[in-house]
Formats: sequence, C-alpha cells, structure tokens
Amino acid sequence: MMNNKIEKDGPKQVEQQQLEQQLTEDIVDPWNVQASSNKGIDYDKLIDRFGSSRIDDALLERFEKLTGQNPHHFLRRGIFFSHRDMHRILNLVEAGKKFFLYTGRGPSSDSMHVGHLIPFIMTKWLQDVFDVPLIIQMTDDEKYLWKDLKLEHCNNLAYENAKDIIAVGFDMSKTFIFSDVDFIGGEFYKNVLKVQKHVTFNQVKGIFGFDESSNIGKIMFPAIQAVPSFSSSFPFIFGGKKDIPCLIPCAIDQDPYFRMTRDVAPRLGFQKPALIHSTFFPALQGASSKMSASDENSSIFLTDTANQIKKKVNKYAFSGGKDTVEEHREKGGDCEVDVSFMYLRFFMEDDGRLEEIRQQYSSGQMLTGELKAELIQILQKMIAEHQERRKSVTDEIVKQYMMPRALNFTIKK
Ligand code: TYM
Repeated sequence: MMNNKIEKDGPKQVEQQQLEQQLTEDIVDPWNVQASSNKGIDYDKLIDRFGSSRIDDALLERFEKLTGQNPHHFLRRGIFFSHRDMHRILNLVEAGKKFFLYTGRGPSSDSMHVGHLIPFIMTKWLQDVFDVPLIIQMTDDEKYLWKDLKLEHCNNLAYENAKDIIAVGFDMSKTFIFSDVDFIGGEFYKNVLKVQKHVTFNQVKGIFGFDESSNIGKIMFPAIQAVPSFSSSFPFIFGGKKDIPCLIPCAIDQDPYFRMTRDVAPRLGFQKPALIHSTFFPALQGASSKMSASDENSSIFLTDTANQIKKKVNKYAFSGGKDTVEEHREKGGDCEVDVSFMYLRFFMEDDGRLEEIRQQYSSGQMLTGELKAELIQILQKMIAEHQERRKSVTDEIVKQYMMPRALNFTIKK
C-alpha cells in the first residue's frame, strides 16, 4: 500500500490516474492526500476511521457563549469539521483557566499556497478570542529528511516561511516561532527522548507506514512533532509547568502525529493535546486532491500577482457550470463541484452574499464567468494585503518572534 502512495507536494499525473483506479479508500496522512473518488475526500468517513468527533452545533453554541462572538466562518461552514477534546478546552475556559495553541509548518518551498494559510488564519482567530500563547514549530528537519533538499536550504526556508506566517498577524508578545534545527535542546530534547523511549518502531510503522528502508531520521521524527504539545518543553514560557493544556489547529493530514502523541502522553504524565481539524483547500483543478506546491497552476500562491490570480482562476478553476449558456441558464451550475464556489466558501466572509451567489449560480441566473469574477476580486485583495504585511516583516522582526523568551500571559490556578 505504501508503494502506491504519491508525494503530497509532487503528484505525477500518471501515478495519480493509476492510483485513482486502484484506491478503495481515501489516503490521508502527512505526506499523501488522495481521494478515492472524484467527489473529493469523504470527511464523514474520515472522522469514523480516525475516531475523532464532529464539530457540531452544540460545540459551536459553546464557542459563541464563551467567547461572546459569532464563531469564525471556518467553523460555521464546516471547513474546520472535526476535533478531539475541544470540550475539555472549553471547560477550562469556562473555569477561567488558560491553555496554549500549537501549530506548525514544514518549510519545503519558499512560496506557500493559500491552503497553507487556513490553519494559521484559524489559529489567529483563536489566539485573539481566547487571548492565549501560541507556539509555531517550523519542521526544517522533517523536510530535510523527507525531501531531496539541502539542510541549509530547509533551514533558510523556515525563516522565509516564518515571514508569511507572521504576516497573518499574530501578536508578537504571545507568539513563539522556532526552527527545529536551531532550537532543539534542553527541556524540549528531554521530552523528545521520553517520547522516543516510550514509542516502538512497530507503533510508528503502524501509524506512519515506515519500513526497513526508511531512514532512521524519519523513524524518530514523530517524537519531535509531538513534544511542542507539552508545556514543559518551553520552560521560558510556562515556567516548567507540565500540565498546561494544548490545542492544535491543523488540517486533518497531520492527525497521525497527534494520535501517536495522545497515545504516549498519559504514559509520560503529560496531558493529551486537543485538536481541531480542517478540510483541505482544494486544487484549482478539483477537490480530489490537495494542492501541490510543485505545480504552480494547481494553486494560488502567496506570491502571485493580481494578473496571475486572474489568469489561473479563469483558466484552471474547475467549473460546475454547463457547457453552453443556454444549458446553464436552464439547468444551473453545480456548487458542489465548482472550485470557484468552494474557494468563496473559504474566503468570502459575508454569509448573505455567499448564499445569494449559491442560489443565483445553481439556478442558472449567474454564469461561471461572473462567479469567477467575484472570486478573483476577493483573492486579489486578500493576497495583495498579505504581500503588503509581509513586506513590513523584516529579518529583525522574525528574530524577535523566534527568540526564546517569556510571553505575555499569566497562568491562573
Ligand atoms: P505543512 O507545511 O505541510 O502544512 C502546514 C499546515 O497547513 C495545513 N495544510 C492545509 N490546510 C488546508 N488545505 C490545504 N490544502 C493544506 N495543505 C496543508 C497542514 O495540515 C498544516 O497544518 N509537519 C507539518 C508541520 C507541523 C505542524 C505541527 C502542523 C509541525 N508541527 C503542528 C500542524 C500542527 C507540515 O509539514 O505542515
């Protein structure tokens, strides 16, 4: 089964077609995401298979009650669809206690695509509404171990990507970003060792599919992505406390790391991290796979110009519209498969306007070109604003975010 998998960041067309013919079940792990049908990943099935819980109305009501805010549209629209232990985190909030957020990025290319922003946008909202500290791990070591890249290059990319992450708007006084290559040591490394000693090769083989030919760096790496979940890994932030709970926003491909983490945590006297999982922002060509950083036409990159965005959406965004205007007017478009509409669900904040577009497009009143024009406008504005903010992130600012230091928050007992 492992040999059938394709690389998340570099699917080859032929391999992909062969795989689609063979797959009976969606593949979702940190390196491969591939749907078994052209309708895309079946997220309901994934929840059952992974044993996580649905983000349901009751949870959203609790969010609203506790934060006094309308839940973020990623939550309201099911873009973040699954969780582990989110109620435990909200119980703490209710009791006036704090938790911390942890998320990350594997720096393998200098230009991130908009899909990579999804967990960071959610994380920023959570940091703002709950006023909590945030740890961001840059796994330059992971990318070196898995990809044909030089170590120096991965390490440099960690700092370049950190600029895009900082540009999302995290509060510097509450955010610590680190590169594994430059940071690991001390209490963090002690926790890595504890995890390594309590997880066997058999276990990681089962979870991640490693085999006898996997390099030994890969086999031990999951311990490194696990330990930022434990507050004692960061004594300069949490004063050596080992029981401050952690919430991890990520897309569901990262869940295997945290299934392992949650399994080992109690055996080490640590709390299991809670998680909220997002669906995947789809490739322009359709929802059956994640976007590929190595195919510039499969996604919108944070470095794209207004013109590139317009061209890509017009040329590549898979349309749910009909072949002729007459047929479209008569039968209407299919929002379920239309990539431009899917993108609007991620980035059009106005619920009313989104619903209006859905109705007009499905009834045939709105044409694909008009739908795409709405999307192009939103993406152009969003990317231009991101680029403006990124421009103001200097090397000095990156250094400040990445300096081990106390953060601005107090732990209530
Ligand atoms: P990476 O760099 O592959 O992805 C960074 C984050 O983006 C999510 N993601 C997506 N979300 C929505 N739509 C997409 N198309 C899409 N593609 C990627 C990923 O789930 C991730 O949250 N090993 C990790 C780095 C990491 C990490 C973490 C991530 C270290 N610690 C803790 C999350 C939480 C990686 O290579 O992510």
